[in-house]
Amino acid sequence: MKHALHWSLHHRLTLLALVLIASLAAVLATTRISIAEGGIAFPYYPAFLKVEMKAEGAQPMPENWQDPQICAGCHPRQYKGWSTSMHSISFKDPVFQAEWALAHKATDGKTLNHCGGCHTPIGVATGTVKFDPSLGKHGGFTAAPIAEKGVSCDVCHTISGTTAVHTSTGNPGNASFVMSPGRVKRATLKDSKSPFHDTEYSELHTKSAFCANCHNIFHPDNRFPVEHTFDEWKASPYAQNGIQCQDCHMVPVDTAIRVADEMKPAKDLADHGLGGFAGMGAKNKRDIVHDHGFVGGNTVIAEALGVKGASENKAEALKRLQNAAELDFEIVPAKGGANMLKVKVTNKRAGHHLPTSLTFIRQIWLEVHITDDQGNELLNSGVAKNNHVPSDAVTFINRSVDKDGKPTINPWEIANFDHLNTIPPKGFRYGVYAFHLPPAAKGFKVQAKLHYQSYAQGVADKLLGEGKLTVPTVVMKELTRDYSAADMKTALSTTAKMAAR
Ligand code: HEC
Ligand code: HEC
Ligand code: HEC
Ligand code: HEC
Ligand code: HEC
Repeated sequence: MKHALHWSLHHRLTLLALVLIASLAAVLATTRISIAEGGIAFPYYPAFLKVEMKAEGAQPMPENWQDPQICAGCHPRQYKGWSTSMHSISFKDPVFQAEWALAHKATDGKTLNHCGGCHTPIGVATGTVKFDPSLGKHGGFTAAPIAEKGVSCDVCHTISGTTAVHTSTGNPGNASFVMSPGRVKRATLKDSKSPFHDTEYSELHTKSAFCANCHNIFHPDNRFPVEHTFDEWKASPYAQNGIQCQDCHMVPVDTAIRVADEMKPAKDLADHGLGGFAGMGAKNKRDIVHDHGFVGGNTVIAEALGVKGASENKAEALKRLQNAAELDFEIVPAKGGANMLKVKVTNKRAGHHLPTSLTFIRQIWLEVHITDDQGNELLNSGVAKNNHVPSDAVTFINRSVDKDGKPTINPWEIANFDHLNTIPPKGFRYGVYAFHLPPAAKGFKVQAKLHYQSYAQGVADKLLGEGKLTVPTVVMKELTRDYSAADMKTALSTTAKMAAR
């Protein structure tokens, strides 16, 4: 009898434990998985995103964030810029969708909150992101309409803080921000008054650290820093001179060029001419009203999606790319009667490495031709065939590999870079070539072009399907110089003299 009682108690306890575990699992599955990192629970881990709801215990719902259309009425200038920006299509971008779908399938859904945390923070916060295998070549995602608007006004302007102290390095990244949706819109105006919403001054919005929450990405498992635009900037002379991301990406290109050349924040430039009304119904003009086109180097996607006004954003992106770098030549005699051409590529005006972020997908390379005065081609390198960068080209990118050192560009597999060749801010890299001048040549011409593609054609073909998108090649810089054979002889004897000394 006693024995039986003991057993049944044991059974009951086991049953209770099972029920508890099962219901806990159900709660975790239906709501959000919570994982502690440094003793703090992150409801959308591996995203370091947090949402603070006004009402105690309230769950974030799509209606807690307002549609950009609502803001457009009083902030037409900001709306016009934003609607052509990559931020407005950070969820719909077909290249992103395809890569995310591949990641989703390869990791059994583990990348849903990771990738979504930056590309659709509202989708992750409201749990409305759904995978649909019938979309695109590899499957795709849908979300609540407001979440499909990506990094929208109310994402950035309800950000009230950062959770960066809890990342592995204490630096911002992996969606380390707090959103407090509601009436309060936060930015950098002091004493602003709006008839429609409350306002609050936010120091964070003045800083690169604000952007960094999304513009620094590390792998959630192996912790490899896959993309580190903010870290690159932080180690640059721009950061040392108080120049923030906003100083180049929230002003017109011509202003950004001055910022890089004068090494001053936009507000300190003489006659910057950026003033105006920040919103309809504002009492006074402001010293600076910020561009919201967030123009970078992408000249493809907004146009491919048929975004209204995409051509203006594209023109700005072209100008940004065309003013980022400088080219120069040095020709020095080499062994065995050969000459060495050194093409110097300087990153003059990007506040981070060139290229940055997806340094393993972006393509920057040199095309070089040397011809003599008799019409002989002495050298050619980097000539694209069928829009593919040839293997002999000098490229300025990082090569990503998996944990076994095998090349991969899948973000969920990347564990390291085995070759680093992006160009640091205000720094330079060389492309080096050898050529022979025929005895009959009296002179020769050197031509170089620096090219940019957002992705290799092969990547676009793999993600979207063959022939769906022709990746444009942007000529960032071009340089042609004529040399006489006599110049080379002088150079040769000068080097010989220097060597003899
Ligand atoms: C009825 C007009 C109106 C609407 C609609 C409106 N705003 Fe405003 N907003 C203003 C005015 C006016 C200001 C104050 C400008 C000033 O003080 O120079 C302002 C200021 C702001 C500021 C600056 C806050 C600060 O303190 O730095 C932000 C950010 C902002 N609005 C975002 C939004 C967003 C996001 C929406 C849409 C969800 C929106 N606004 C809708 C009129 C409006
Ligand atoms: C990626 C984040 C981001 C998005 C998206 C965004 N903003 Fe902003 N916005 C900022 C930042 C940062 C500032 C302040 C820049 C500074 O002072 O250096 C700002 C400034 C403002 C201001 C103050 C006046 C000015 O222009 O400086 C208003 C008003 C505003 N934004 C409205 C909007 C509206 C409306 C939208 C959507 C159509 C929007 N923003 C989308 C980041 C964003
Ligand atoms: C910490 C924020 C963050 C996370 C996490 C993140 N991304 Fe991104 N992603 C970005 C930013 C910022 C860019 C823009 C960089 C640029 O254009 O230089 C970007 C750009 C991209 C692009 C290039 C789009 C284009 O058209 O050029 C792809 C593809 C992409 N991300 C895929 C992913 C996938 C897949 C994941 C998850 C495995 C992911 N991202 C996770 C922030 C993030
Ligand atoms: C909530 C996350 C988030 C924040 C905050 C954010 N970004 Fe982005 N940003 C993205 C994502 C995601 C993309 C890529 C969209 C795509 O290509 O699919 C992007 C794209 C960009 C691009 C276009 C890159 C290209 O290839 O042309 C620029 C420039 C940019 N962001 C600058 C900024 C700046 C400057 C700030 C701070 C004022 C900022 N971003 C804040 C997530 C964010
Ligand atoms: C001194 C001006 C300057 C500053 C400061 C600056 N950028 Fe840029 N950025 C550029 C230029 C020029 C380009 C175009 C060349 C390129 O693609 O790198 C660019 C390109 C980009 C791109 C697209 C890169 C690509 O090829 O896909 C992103 C994303 C970006 N910037 C984000 C940022 C962020 C985030 C910060 C702050 C941490 C920042 N930038 C600071 C000038 C600047």
